[in-house]
Amino acid sequence: MEDSLEDLLEQHGGDCGDEDQPSAPEAKFRSSRMNIQRSSVCSRAYFVVVMVFFHVYILNVIGLLLYVHYNNGPGELVSEDGAPSASISDRGAALPHPDPAASDLHVEDYSQSVGLPRIEGIRVGHVQQVSLLPDRTHEMRTMSLKPLLFEIPGFLSEEECRVVVQLAQLKGLMASQTTTPSKEQEESNQPLLSLSTDEVFSLLDLNQDGLLQHEEIVSHSRSQDGTWLNPDNLRQILTGLEACPTGTLTLEDFRLVYDVSQRPGQQQSAKSRSQFKQRNKNTWLYQGPGSHHVLQSLRNRLISLTRLPSTLVGLSEPLQVIRYENGDFSNAHHDSSPPQPETTCTHTRMAGNKSALTEVSCRYLTMLFYLSSVEEGGETTFPVADNRTYEEQALVQDGVDLTDTKETCGRGNIRMKPSVGTALLWYNHLSDGRGWMGELDEYSLHGECPVKRGVKWTANSWVNVDPDHQQQARYQRLVAKRQQAKSGMEEHYQPLSHSDLHQDL
Ligand code: OGA
Ligand code: CA
Ligand code: FE2
Repeated sequence: MEDSLEDLLEQHGGDCGDEDQPSAPEAKFRSSRMNIQRSSVCSRAYFVVVMVFFHVYILNVIGLLLYVHYNNGPGELVSEDGAPSASISDRGAALPHPDPAASDLHVEDYSQSVGLPRIEGIRVGHVQQVSLLPDRTHEMRTMSLKPLLFEIPGFLSEEECRVVVQLAQLKGLMASQTTTPSKEQEESNQPLLSLSTDEVFSLLDLNQDGLLQHEEIVSHSRSQDGTWLNPDNLRQILTGLEACPTGTLTLEDFRLVYDVSQRPGQQQSAKSRSQFKQRNKNTWLYQGPGSHHVLQSLRNRLISLTRLPSTLVGLSEPLQVIRYENGDFSNAHHDSSPPQPETTCTHTRMAGNKSALTEVSCRYLTMLFYLSSVEEGGETTFPVADNRTYEEQALVQDGVDLTDTKETCGRGNIRMKPSVGTALLWYNHLSDGRGWMGELDEYSLHGECPVKRGVKWTANSWVNVDPDHQQQARYQRLVAKRQQAKSGMEEHYQPLSHSDLHQDL
């Protein structure tokens, strides 16, 4: 044993270039010690190499942890109630967060460093604190992992809900083309007609500077989802405005102008009222620059929460506001569509040359805002949320079709009761594994139970993403070019016309 140890030590010493080999036992012992010392010189070099690798390894681990930290979970997102805060853009350094006003939009970077963040669900019932407004935090609860579904109570204040509903009501007012509204319709229109002059002024004052600019009036007549002001009203407001030397109307000016324009209507109230009709149960509200500050703030909160690039969100569909009354419901459906070779996304179609393809909605996520509480019924149901498997056949149980929300509302795995100000957020798509939008998440199937008592108001905010990220990038480049061209024509006030981009709205 001793011999072999010596041999080993000697051999090791020899490796280090030691030529002195004493033969006496003490000499042997000394030699061993010397060898040990010499070999420790070698070990030191070895040790240094190991330590270098060890440090590189530790640095890698730290780097990885930082990457995960900055890319997952909303953490303590902090945002002003305006544009998302700088800290968020910084945090999103790995994920470009282009400014929609910037003309070039960094679309190239965007398409290359693909990345659509997803909020971490952790587990059902997990509650995370999110900071969406400067003066308070919100609690976000994970409701299911399949689909990734969250509930955020108090996302909107009751006051904000009222503003959104009123804005929608204004947009829903249409000069009747064909029919005279029934007595019931007139009754349901009552809140629309009971808006005070001051409220109408506030709703018209898109940039909330306390003055009505010419563009603010005109932008309504341009918007595709309704010249919602009575044309006579519109003309008189404009005449009043043009008569003003300042070129703007204060609230006091407006009271005079608007009251004047109301007078004929009041004299022939039946006729006037018959000119108004709530054309649709739903309407679309533009949320970009110049729109009502509550609408802009909602969009900014969505950006803060989801950490999605603001350009992407800014080019998504406007806010859809829907009103449900007694008995109204909708069968279970998916808000988005599975990516298929024979389909193209409606929102990016102008960037494609695939006009022959079927157009479908491509909606990465849905934010659903409850703008009212409902006395009874009207729940949102997710019939197969967190089921172990998803099979079409399993949707029919004991001869009952789970997509038939009217009949099977009570059977859904998750049922959310509308509560004023609460927001739901869910992802309609899975990740493609490379950070972009992948397959449709079948589990995101959802429907609405019939409203039994009360009126249900909701708003949908959809974030549109093309599963083909090249197509998404091309689309953004095109929009940027259009915006540049428009600003060249000094139409700087006019917001990007969504009607151009979403002709179906
Ligand atoms: C929708 C929708 C759910 C609800 O409008 O697409 O699913 O409860 N809404 O209003
Ligand atoms: Ca204004
Ligand atoms: Fe839906």
